[in-house]
Amino acid sequence: MRRAIIFGHRDYRRVADAMRNDEPFAALSGFMPTGDPHIGHKMVFDEIIWHQQQGADAYALIADLEAHAARGLTWDEIDDHSEDYLLSLLALGFDADDGTLYRQSANRELQDLAFELGAEARFSEFEAIYGFDGETDVSHMQSVVTQMADILYPQLEDSKPTVIPVGPDQDPHMRLARDIAERTRYFKVTEAYASVAFDDDERPLVAATYEAREQYADGEGAPRCGEAADWLRDDPGITGGHDDEVVAGVVEKLDNAGMEPLRPRIRFFDRQATEAAFEALIDEIRGEKRVFEGHIDAFELDRETAEDLALAVEVDHGGYGFVPPSSIYHRFMTGLTGGKMSSSIPASHISLLDDPEDGYDKVKAATTGGRETAEKQRELGGEPDKCPVYELYAYLLAGDDDEFAQRVYDECAGGERLCGGCKEEAAELMEGFLADHQEKRDEAREVLADLDVQLDSERV
Ligand code: TRP
Ligand code: SF4
Repeated sequence: MRRAIIFGHRDYRRVADAMRNDEPFAALSGFMPTGDPHIGHKMVFDEIIWHQQQGADAYALIADLEAHAARGLTWDEIDDHSEDYLLSLLALGFDADDGTLYRQSANRELQDLAFELGAEARFSEFEAIYGFDGETDVSHMQSVVTQMADILYPQLEDSKPTVIPVGPDQDPHMRLARDIAERTRYFKVTEAYASVAFDDDERPLVAATYEAREQYADGEGAPRCGEAADWLRDDPGITGGHDDEVVAGVVEKLDNAGMEPLRPRIRFFDRQATEAAFEALIDEIRGEKRVFEGHIDAFELDRETAEDLALAVEVDHGGYGFVPPSSIYHRFMTGLTGGKMSSSIPASHISLLDDPEDGYDKVKAATTGGRETAEKQRELGGEPDKCPVYELYAYLLAGDDDEFAQRVYDECAGGERLCGGCKEEAAELMEGFLADHQEKRDEAREVLADLDVQLDSERV
């Protein structure tokens, strides 16, 4: 995050807050065992491990159903690669006693969850999001609901903020998972001002109108909706930042509500609560409330208390109570040969299983952001932002040493660093990293053997 390698997120605040307040949270990511784990995967392993060290319930899963369904790998290939991913994850510091590792194919609870979540997903969404069509096979679709289940799996026992560290290519999955999580919820909690429902883009204007009530309300107590409409129509100056259509919509709705008081409240919509849960929620709401056919208005609750209450009642009555999962997104490493780093192009990446000497050679052979001649480089400086070797320093070789990464950058850009020496230094560091990592992988074999992770697919 400090080096902007992790450059974006969805709703990470939830997770950061939990971390800060010592509340439970989780981190999970998944790996398709399609080839050797390489230094791009290391980044994701590190993200999971870092969150685990900050107190997360940490999960890593092998997306073998997806690899089989979407990429057509055989179970033998999948078994080999799965072990390699897990060994590297353990070697890098994943604490397996404290965390959870699983294979999709061997996790029955996960598959049950996937089945339930499938009831909330429509084929038309798969068409729109993934470009699926009439030719797409059903197992491929199943691997998508399985991923939805992966993402929500840490919350199966207890609701908690969960971060999914992934590349930005996985964002469609995140959005779908967040939607599906919401659809399973018993209640939807919104802020309302009258019996009429205001849209999300109308609510800020209604809130501002309520705040300004002293300017137009006649007498004590709450203003009437009709009064607010009249006042807004005279354009009191608060409509400025709002769309004309939004203003017109708000005025009309307020007008129609006429003599009804304009008064802030929390509205609990019954999305798919059981009858018992709806009744229980009514009982649990403190202070003034009004009960309607499909919703309840509460006048003395703040938003957060209301959200907590809705969740507690849901969980009490057999619901999942999923909170929307969060994500963080990292930049992809550039391939050593320029272009994408890809599992299927060996020279483009450094596998965590490469011989240390091969790792050394690959770094030495990498393209750089250097100039054609040493002379030009001294004069103009190199271009670290376009250099895969600089990325190696920033993503991996500099470890936690920000100052080192910065020094490489500055020396390069300032023309003091030349590519030959720079690559030699990086190559040596890479060789050392790989040797050390592979030693740790060997030690991790014993740990893995003791874990309850099935490494052989018992398939015929
Ligand atoms: N679809 C991911 C990939 O292509 C793998 C994956 C499966 C995953 N389940 C997941 C990633 C859950 C993050 C969270 O690599
Ligand atoms: Fe890349 Fe190093 Fe050359 Fe700069 S000096 S362009 S960082 S190899």
